[in-house]
Amino acid sequence: MLEHDVLVVGAGLAGMQAALHAARQGASVAILTKVHPVRSHSNAAQGGINAAMEDDDPWEDHAYDTVKGSDFLGDQDAIEVLCSEAPETIIELEHMGVIFNRGSRGQIDLRAFGGQARKRTCYIADITGQVLLHVIYEQLMKAGTQVYEEWFVTSLVRQNDAICGVVALDLRTGALELIKAKAVILCTGGSGRVYEPSSNALICTGDGYAQAYRAGAPLMDMEMVQYHPTTLPSNGALMTEGARGEGAYLVNAKGERFMERYAPNMMELASRDVVSRAEQTEINEGRDIDGCVLLDVRHLDRNTILQKLSQIRELGLEYEGVDIVEEPCPVRPGMHYMMGGIKTDIQGATFVKGLYSAGEAACVSVHGGNRLGANSLLDTLVFGKRAGMSAVEYARGITDPNVPESRVEEDREHIGGILSRSADDGERAAALRLTMGQTMHEHVGVFRDHAGLTQAQNIIATLKERYQHVGIDDKGSVFNTDLLFALEVGLMLDVAEAIVAGALFRTESRGAQFRTDYPDRNDDDWLKHTLVYQGDGGPRLETLPVTITQWQPARRTY
Ligand code: FUM
Repeated sequence: MLEHDVLVVGAGLAGMQAALHAARQGASVAILTKVHPVRSHSNAAQGGINAAMEDDDPWEDHAYDTVKGSDFLGDQDAIEVLCSEAPETIIELEHMGVIFNRGSRGQIDLRAFGGQARKRTCYIADITGQVLLHVIYEQLMKAGTQVYEEWFVTSLVRQNDAICGVVALDLRTGALELIKAKAVILCTGGSGRVYEPSSNALICTGDGYAQAYRAGAPLMDMEMVQYHPTTLPSNGALMTEGARGEGAYLVNAKGERFMERYAPNMMELASRDVVSRAEQTEINEGRDIDGCVLLDVRHLDRNTILQKLSQIRELGLEYEGVDIVEEPCPVRPGMHYMMGGIKTDIQGATFVKGLYSAGEAACVSVHGGNRLGANSLLDTLVFGKRAGMSAVEYARGITDPNVPESRVEEDREHIGGILSRSADDGERAAALRLTMGQTMHEHVGVFRDHAGLTQAQNIIATLKERYQHVGIDDKGSVFNTDLLFALEVGLMLDVAEAIVAGALFRTESRGAQFRTDYPDRNDDDWLKHTLVYQGDGGPRLETLPVTITQWQPARRTY
């Protein structure tokens, strides 16, 4: 039987950072990922990583911007950790070999990003995540950490109230294996693809959320789904906020810089929930261009665009046929990030013993109702490290868990059922996935209300029933992506169910959750987190207080 002290699931930045720091404690560590590590979605983070790097910028100011950005739903003890550990995290990255863009004095250059009172975002052109991912991967290789590459976890194994391993499918061979671990860290990223369209990679299917949910761990604030203001209409690809940080405008069909009406002080650099709502309002009220507004960088220096925004220039050219140097580019709000996730404490521990989580999969909660751009890379690194270290500490106190090999049989039976049906006779996973994604976008997007959410709830329940009959055409065992896709859809439906449950439960508007039937923030009743557990008859909801340390809730304006 395969066996490790700590098994990390997911090899994006959070996963690799967790594995690296766990390995440095001398533990036996492995990392399991459904794609090659450098194909992880952290790759897609373009604009940068926040840290208070300048002498006259105390980390507390970064923390306050984060608290305000979260619409006061973020847990302030966690935000203090995030922001106070940010500068040392950047220096650590530099020492690993990350070459950040430099300013005129040779210092790490900073760019402006949304929702922040000053420039605080370290960056590498508009490929920050990609560079970080490659550098940390080198470190992981250097540490000699075992990587189960192109494996997929089908379920977590829980014995006597503690997680003690996973059942996983080796995609190369089709073999189903039990991997025993004293601690498991879920760093499986977000679930953008529960929505259609999304800025997320096709691999972002929320596997970890659903696996934790099924194993009894609660998911927190799942209703907080971030729509990024600038995604491409053709395919949802991200046009970095870094463009607005460099000075880009947003204009409507009348040529107006409409943010003047919504956020007169911060304009295009208000927080993402505010900008996305403003855009959607312009679109809904007919001041749109084919369902979009325009991102205009033409007034910026050509060299700035070519040197600092070259990737988005390429994306504009490739997907919209627009050269942003010459023309404004159509953009619209698109599903981008999950603020909610598997509830953890500041050491990455979940409510289930032996189960840890970090990164977008987790909800610690530093983002609350709305994440500031460029705080997600920081979150992966700060809390990935903490999760790795605390999982090792936990594992040291555990004697060899007794996990029966027979645990694999349940999953084998489920997979056998899918393989035994054809897509023509049963249900086709792609059709279920598309209906789910479109439903979520239509009813659980920028604006929501009770009627739409109830409709979404009913549709998801029907899709879950139909999923029982899902079938596939490929009956092979080697790289059966048909099977992988079907397994992912089953997990995604659980995630969709949890998001809708949270959105219906929270009868107020805060951060990314805007209920047109409850348009105000309601601190008296809702200055609290929502927790969703998987119950026998569907989701079971509870609440948890928000941790306030030094910043009292105030009205949020930009
Ligand atoms: O716009 C961006 O570059 C995205 C960054 C982020 O989501 O943090």
